[in-house]
Amino acid sequence: MDFHLTNEQQMLRKMYREFAENEVKPLAEEIDEEERFPMETVEKMAKLGMMGIYFPKEYGGAGGDVLSYAMCVEELAKVCGTTAVIVSAHTSLCCAPIFEHGTEEQKRKYLPDLLSGKKIGAFGLTEPNAGTDASGQQTLAVLEGDHYVLNGSKCFITNGNVADTFVVFAMTDKSKGNHGISAFIVEKDFPGFSTGKHEKKMGIRGSSTCDLIFEDCIVPKENLLGKEGKGFKIAMQTLDGGRIGIAAQALGLGEGAVNEAVKYTQERVQFGKRLSQFQNTQFQLADMHTRMQAAQYLVYAAAMKKQNHEDYSMDASMAKLFAAEAASDVTRRAVQLFGGYGYTREYPVERMMRDAKITEIYEGTSEVQRMVISSRLGVK
Ligand code: CAA
Repeated sequence: MDFHLTNEQQMLRKMYREFAENEVKPLAEEIDEEERFPMETVEKMAKLGMMGIYFPKEYGGAGGDVLSYAMCVEELAKVCGTTAVIVSAHTSLCCAPIFEHGTEEQKRKYLPDLLSGKKIGAFGLTEPNAGTDASGQQTLAVLEGDHYVLNGSKCFITNGNVADTFVVFAMTDKSKGNHGISAFIVEKDFPGFSTGKHEKKMGIRGSSTCDLIFEDCIVPKENLLGKEGKGFKIAMQTLDGGRIGIAAQALGLGEGAVNEAVKYTQERVQFGKRLSQFQNTQFQLADMHTRMQAAQYLVYAAAMKKQNHEDYSMDASMAKLFAAEAASDVTRRAVQLFGGYGYTREYPVERMMRDAKITEIYEGTSEVQRMVISSRLGVK
């Protein structure tokens, strides 16, 4: 696999990095502390095309590629896990399924506003009783004339409180199990739709995570996404792409922690020596960097396979599994190298450690990734 970046990819990476340093890093502590969604940052990212990176210009996208998108999420996550997941959930979980499964009419109607960042997208799959067991959907959709009526609720929805457009899954035929699940495009102003409980989280605290409630929610028939009964496949394919985004988020968080630890250990003096002069520090940093470098290869390989329309499901799961566990380990080790200061909010590594934990959980836990990988190996 050729990991050399094209000139355009190098320029984009530089732009994402500068944007992250200049516009995102200064806000990271504040939005975490205040649990505040950084709408002003989304508006700035929209102007730079960061809300629709790998979609064609004819639908309002930036005309880039999947690797550039992964690098964008990575650069954002180096300084702020919250900002990274806002872009990832919007892009992978809402824009992508509409682009990949929508009719021409649906694409023309919804994509320009989403890809230009005028509107924010979200994905409604998880329910209180259908988390890892995503096929156990209890939200119902009943066709009545020219519209579906949705009843039920979703939970833990990233971007939930700020999104305008949702890709939502519901049972249209309970007797068919996962073949009875269908996907819908739901607008926040549809009658019977509302958002509910807002979660207070351990990390990514500036991101919005809430319940979605459907009470006789009227969804026009033309908002069925894909065919009736194909919703579970659409959800699984969408999550394959989403896992590249979360893997890139984990990658950035781990790399950000390494950067902080390299800097700090060269400043801090104990026993008359800089911490970086102790072999324990040198070995820790070498291991941390090596883990993140390995994660980067997996993430970039999965992104390039998606870009080339190759089967990348297992690659996305391996990237997410490895990057998420590496990020949790590396951010925890960074806190340890900082000692007491690492445990305080004076330094960003404790936030990075809290932010990293979720990458082992959402868009499929590490256990789910192991299920996907082992089943692809034919292990029964
Ligand atoms: N692409 C296309 N089709 C797929 C697929 C994929 N990647 N994976 C499975 N399928 C198909 C299978 O081919 C099968 O089709 P048939 O029934 O026609 O044979 C069907 O889906 C069922 O497959 P399985 O029997 O493997 O499915 P399962 O019920 O055993 O579940 C699972 C497998 C891997 C555990 C899956 O349910 C899963 O990924 N669960 C985790 C869900 C998840 O990631 N949730 C996170 C939600 S989003 C979020 O986190 C919130 C947010 O906003 C960020």
